[in-house]
Amino acid sequence: MRKTVRVPFYFPADAKSNVADVVLAGSFDGWSGRIPLTLEGRHYETSLTLRPGIYSYKFVVNGKWTLAPHQATVVDENGHVNHCISVTLPSSSSTSLESMVPAHLQVATAPAGSATTSTYNTPAASPNPSAYDMSEENDEELSDFGSDVDELATSLASVTHPLVIHGGPAYGSAILQNQLLLDGVFRVDNSNEAKAGERKLVLAMVGLPARGKSFIAQKLQRYLKWIGFETKIFNNGMYRRDNIGSYLSHDFFRADNRDGVEARSRMARMALADMCAWFAEDPKHHIGILDATNSTRARRKFVVNYLKTPSTFSVKVVFIEVICNRPEVIKRNVLHKHKFSPDYAGMTEDEAVSDFTERIAHYEAAYEPVQERSVSFIRLFDVGRETQTNRIKGYLPTKIVFFLMNMHIVQRPIYLSRHGESEFNRQDRIGGDSPLTLSGLKYAEALGEWMEKETDHDTSGYLRDLDSDLIIFTSTMVRTIQSAEKIKCAQLLRWKALEEISVGICDGMTPAEFEATYPDEYAARIADKLRYRYPRGEGYEDLIARLEPVIFELERQVLPVLVIGHQAVLRCLYGYLMGLDIEEVPHTPIPLHTVIRLVPRAYGTEETRTLLHPLDNADDHESGSLRAEPSPLASAASSDTSPLGS
Ligand code: F6P
Repeated sequence: MRKTVRVPFYFPADAKSNVADVVLAGSFDGWSGRIPLTLEGRHYETSLTLRPGIYSYKFVVNGKWTLAPHQATVVDENGHVNHCISVTLPSSSSTSLESMVPAHLQVATAPAGSATTSTYNTPAASPNPSAYDMSEENDEELSDFGSDVDELATSLASVTHPLVIHGGPAYGSAILQNQLLLDGVFRVDNSNEAKAGERKLVLAMVGLPARGKSFIAQKLQRYLKWIGFETKIFNNGMYRRDNIGSYLSHDFFRADNRDGVEARSRMARMALADMCAWFAEDPKHHIGILDATNSTRARRKFVVNYLKTPSTFSVKVVFIEVICNRPEVIKRNVLHKHKFSPDYAGMTEDEAVSDFTERIAHYEAAYEPVQERSVSFIRLFDVGRETQTNRIKGYLPTKIVFFLMNMHIVQRPIYLSRHGESEFNRQDRIGGDSPLTLSGLKYAEALGEWMEKETDHDTSGYLRDLDSDLIIFTSTMVRTIQSAEKIKCAQLLRWKALEEISVGICDGMTPAEFEATYPDEYAARIADKLRYRYPRGEGYEDLIARLEPVIFELERQVLPVLVIGHQAVLRCLYGYLMGLDIEEVPHTPIPLHTVIRLVPRAYGTEETRTLLHPLDNADDHESGSLRAEPSPLASAASSDTSPLGS
């Protein structure tokens, strides 16, 4: 069997610049060599014989370290940006390194002929549900997942250059991507003997009803998607509603109701079977969240055993227990259940509260806290007050703990608004740091008045005025600072991380000037706006990476937050908050003079948009031709009803 692959490397020959000497250096030989490239038509070229693995590399052009346009980049542990390539054996081989690499790690976008391949072996089998008997109960300890982590540590020992994924279609910070790649969920091994197949992660919620499990599951899903992992929630309650019916009296949930117990077990099995089928469907399907009470040892044992069935993928299970005994939080969640859950549609509040309270009592009677020391678990006491962990190792599980420690379950609105119209908006120029126009100043005033009238109906059941509670985030640019000046607030934070996308050498240009001066760049941006990076500037993926601290701070704040930002930056934040597919992000309409109000709920995020102080001749300015590019997902992305969508 062939164990090496001939890999071509290219650097474009640019007629305009004076490129004379191009060499390649990389991790293939510990960065010690300088491999010369020769001019072949429109490219400088060389090729190397490489074993399967992940390599970082860079070019030295006329003596200077240089990145080639449109080749995926990575950041190493010292913060240096390099290109990244994943080399796999041809698909006829049973070894597929790529199948072990997260889906977001894409190989360099070299010209045709690149030796890299995308050979995913789609796992076919899913566990056989009949192999399990949920009624079986004994006191055996659950299986031990700890050894997996040690085994992984050994397999990672051969990774010589930790890679930080900075290119490829993924949300998330570069550093995060690196660590995720090296984490226990994925095996990265640059030897050509591949280990077992796909490794999946299951986050199984645990807790009594009305503790905020679904809300936390939603937030986790959004976050995990943001950092580049396809994550799906499987909710046992949804299976019950679809297969048995929405409204079932609390008696159905009694621990001594044999039919009820049996029916609930069946639903749990269905959810797990679907989860496994989803895992098997696509190697990119990595993380399943089991949103259920999983409140007894027997049920947890069942979950672990079910997911242990031999398959083409292996699964690591982490239980996340949500413990909360604060009456006001439980009360709020019970009321929320009445308002939003189909279980109580058409009932009065009193009827719903009374039935749901009984249902909780039935669960309480049988509840067993997670104390199985042999499984991985995270226990959250009053989300944020205290966190206990057991057997949590590896970057992704610890990152999840960090996220959970920073989040809360208080439902409060987040407002997003672009700055008022700026001089550059008026002139249809990109970049810059121009002040507001008269119309922009009027919007700033209108926004102040609107926010003053705005009350938060959602927190703890009482109305509150926002002026004493509101937190405002702006960027450090004049136009966002001016836009916040008329708004009363408790605190205002200026973030460098919220600055608009840097358009590099195009700063200050109109779209027509951009196209005339750099036609190739202009075309490249139109072709792939998500992955495009302005020369000496940024791309959307850079923005996504730099916004991570803002996301954590947004999650940490329990007070309403208004973010006054810029078009590209707000697209990314909106994408995170709404759980958008990353491909949609650069095309999402975030019009000027419009406030977007988002309230995260257990069953999705509620959105309202309000147009304040409409622009004159809205269609005449604001990057007319820059926004004209077709979005692959334009219709799906738009929830905008204002005439200003860009
Ligand atoms: O046009 C206003 C603006 O904020 C520019 O400064 C920025 O380059 C642009 O929007 C970002 O949006 P897009 O990625 O659609 O060009």
